[in-house]
Amino acid sequence: MANYKIAIIVGSLRKESLNRKIARSMCAMRGDNLECTMVEIGDLPLYNQDYDLQKQQPEPYVRFREQVSAADGILFCTPEYNRGVPGVLKNAIDVGSRPYGRSVWDRKPAAIISASPGSIGGFGANHELRQACVFLNMPVMQQPEAYLGHVSDDSFGEDGCLKDGPLKDLVFKLAHAFHDWVDTILHARELLEHDAAREERAAKRKQNA
Ligand SMILES: Cc1cc2nc3c(=O)[nH]c(=O)nc-3n(C[C@H](O)[C@H](O)[C@H](O)COP(=O)(O)O)c2cc1C
Repeated sequence: MANYKIAIIVGSLRKESLNRKIARSMCAMRGDNLECTMVEIGDLPLYNQDYDLQKQQPEPYVRFREQVSAADGILFCTPEYNRGVPGVLKNAIDVGSRPYGRSVWDRKPAAIISASPGSIGGFGANHELRQACVFLNMPVMQQPEAYLGHVSDDSFGEDGCLKDGPLKDLVFKLAHAFHDWVDTILHARELLEHDAAREERAAKRKQNA
């Protein structure tokens, strides 16, 4: 089974963020063939289209875009703020999407986890983010869905990772499903490129015959 590099982006800057702890738990999991790295977004200056015209991009923009570009897949772990995506995460999405034509999100397989102490598990933020991903040409994993409700500090142990139980089991299942999703997308693309190259060679041979 192939190993994939996954960039995890957390939509909360809070030190004790529940979503960050879920992301950390995912990083600590073994046997899912995912090499997870957290990509920080708190230092990204607010996106301003004027930056696109500058030769020198803000240093955090350069670092962020490079980290996202290097990943095979993107996992978002986000809270819901006022039934939508937290501003800090929307800012990161916008930063990665520009300058026009050079989006680092393009074609990256993605998954979205939203977690909340509330009962609907950040459904609104999850789907608002999903909408942006569709526009950005990111194939987003559909199942299992991950609206994690009733998450609290009690869900985590002293190491800051999920305690054994149904929530940890679900996150483990998500990690495996995401591995398979990334594998499916990247493998299908490889096959298509291979077919296209073969057809091109055949067309050239026909031309030269
Ligand atoms: C500005 C703000 C808006 C919020 N809006 C929602 C909301 O729409 N839905 C929800 O389930 N929780 C909402 N919450 C509560 C968050 O889910 C809760 O604070 C959660 O712990 C934040 O995620 P984090 O622990 O990863 O920082 C809101 C919290 C804040 C600070």
